[in-house]
Formats: sequence, C-alpha cells, structure tokens
Amino acid sequence: MTDASASDAFWLDKQQVRAAFDRAAPTYDDIALLQREVGERMLQRLDLVKLDPAIIADVGAGTGRFSAALAKRYKNSRIIALDIAPGMLAEARRRDSLIARWFPRKHYLCGDAEALPFADHSIDLLFSNLTVQWCNDFDRTLAEFRRVLKPGGLLMFTTLGPDTLKELRQSWAHADAHNHVNAFYDMHDIGDALMRARLTTPVMDVEDFTLTYPDVMHLMRDLKALGGHNVTAGRSHGLTGPRRLTAMTAAYEQFRRDGQLPATYEVIYGHAWAPMASSAKAATAGGDVQIPLSQIGRARRE
Ligand SMILES: C[S@@+](CC[C@H](N)C(=O)[O-])C[C@H]1O[C@@H](n2cnc3c(N)ncnc32)[C@H](O)[C@@H]1O
Repeated sequence: MTDASASDAFWLDKQQVRAAFDRAAPTYDDIALLQREVGERMLQRLDLVKLDPAIIADVGAGTGRFSAALAKRYKNSRIIALDIAPGMLAEARRRDSLIARWFPRKHYLCGDAEALPFADHSIDLLFSNLTVQWCNDFDRTLAEFRRVLKPGGLLMFTTLGPDTLKELRQSWAHADAHNHVNAFYDMHDIGDALMRARLTTPVMDVEDFTLTYPDVMHLMRDLKALGGHNVTAGRSHGLTGPRRLTAMTAAYEQFRRDGQLPATYEVIYGHAWAPMASSAKAATAGGDVQIPLSQIGRARRE
C-alpha cells in the first residue's frame, strides 16, 4: 500500500478536510443516504458479536447518527464521538440534546483519527463509518486504533475502495490532468495493513452501490454538500474553466443508462480484534494473521 506523503498529489490537506466538513455539517444528514445505509449495515454486524463495551469511540462521528445508535444499543457504555470537524460535533450535540438522558454517557471530542487523543488500551469498541479514507497514512491510523484498543477490543470500520466515483474520475481524465477524485485503497491493501498493525482475525468484504443522478451537476453538488469534494494536493487550485467542465460533462454522458448517470461507490467493510494480552507478545514476535479467502466477498447493490 502506498500511503500519501506530503509531497504526493493525493495528500489530503487536513485543514481543508475540516473546513469542507464544517461547511457540510448543516446539510449533511439530508444528503448522506449512502453513509446512513452503510453505517446501518455495519451496526447490524454488531448483532453477531456478543459485546458489553464499557467505552466506545465513534471515530469520524460526523453528525452523531451512529454514536446515538451505539448509545441506544449499549445502554451501559460511555460513548465518545470524535471528529476532526467541530461543525459536525455541534450537529451531533444538537441531535443528542433531543435525548438529554444520553448526555451523561456521551462525550464529544475534536481530534484526528491519525493521532487519537486517547490513552493506550482504553477503548473496548472502535466504530468508524466511512472516515478512514480521509486519513493520509492508513498504517498510522491502524496503529493508533490498535494502540487505543483494550486487549480483545473490537475495531469495526467501513471505507471506500478504488472503484468509488470511477465514472467521475474517468470523465475528468478527458478534460485535464489534475486530480478531481481522492485516491482509495483496495481491500487487499487494507487487509495487508490490518496484518501489519497486528490486529487479529480480520474479516473483510466489499459491496458496490450505484447511486444515480439526472446530471453531473447534481452529483457534484451532492459531493460538496457532503463535504466529499476533492481536497488533494494535486487538485486544480484555480477555477475550473467552462471548457474543461464541458469536456468532463460530455465524457460522463457515455455512462448514461435509462436516462440516469450512475456513480459507483465501492464500500469496504472490515473488522478485527486487538490481540488478547497473552497473544499480543506472540503477534509482535512475528505471528502472521491470515484472512480466509472465504471471508472475502463482493456484493452489488443498485
Ligand atoms: C463521510 S463522513 C461520515 C460521518 C459519520 N461516520 C456517518 O457515517 O455519518 C466522514 C467524517 O469523518 C470526519 N473526518 C475526516 N477526516 C478525519 C480525521 N482525520 N479524523 C477524524 N475525523 C475525520 C469528517 O469530519 C466527517 O465528519
């Protein structure tokens, strides 16, 4: 896996990421249908695991939809909603103010997934929906997750794979040489990174979703309203001229089917455990972690 470095065209400017999500916060819930669906599916996976977590961290909590769902599900847990964007956390607080009885168990923290403000071995369940794709160094992010998880703690996350927004990426390639879409790691790279982080029994699968739009402008407007537009170092820093925009829009038309333009999202689901105290030593001593092929699957959803 090649992590983005500061000299890399795909390097994400964290200030820009924060600013984009701060701006998006008030409109986010109305538009984040895919994020909601994916988070719900990840929550359902918790049905299969017997857990009684004392402390849960929702990393990249956004407007707090899933911190709230976790508080409802685990009635004795303390929940920490962590996000890099204060505007998102303000929305999360607003949501929770409607359910005041949760307040004593809820905490809101502005912070970065790549440098978590938590003590070592302090978290029982780390939940992160569609956030780690905003981190520059996936190995470092997983090392942080591993550091803060208690022995035997569970990491559950979703992220986006390289087919995400492939139609938009290909269409922009007809118009200019800049990055217009963030770079995403594939499932096998993510599996390798989980092994390097010495997380145990990783399970991963991938599911393709296709959203449809009447035109490209609707797609671009949605991406902006979600805070999901491009903030990589290699983006075009000037205004995009009308000629390039027209070339991209025309190229996107080749994908039109049944009157609609598709936008693919490749969603990767993963979970893994922090090693128990006794096996941690063995793992650091070089024990390999294997992902059975039978546990890697692909599904498709329109
Ligand atoms: C696509 S939203 C998902 C929000 C929420 N998990 C949900 O499912 O609705 C991604 C969130 O991650 C946050 N984020 C991005 N980079 C982050 C980072 N490095 N550390 C913590 N949060 C980050 C953004 O501010 C945003 O709220």
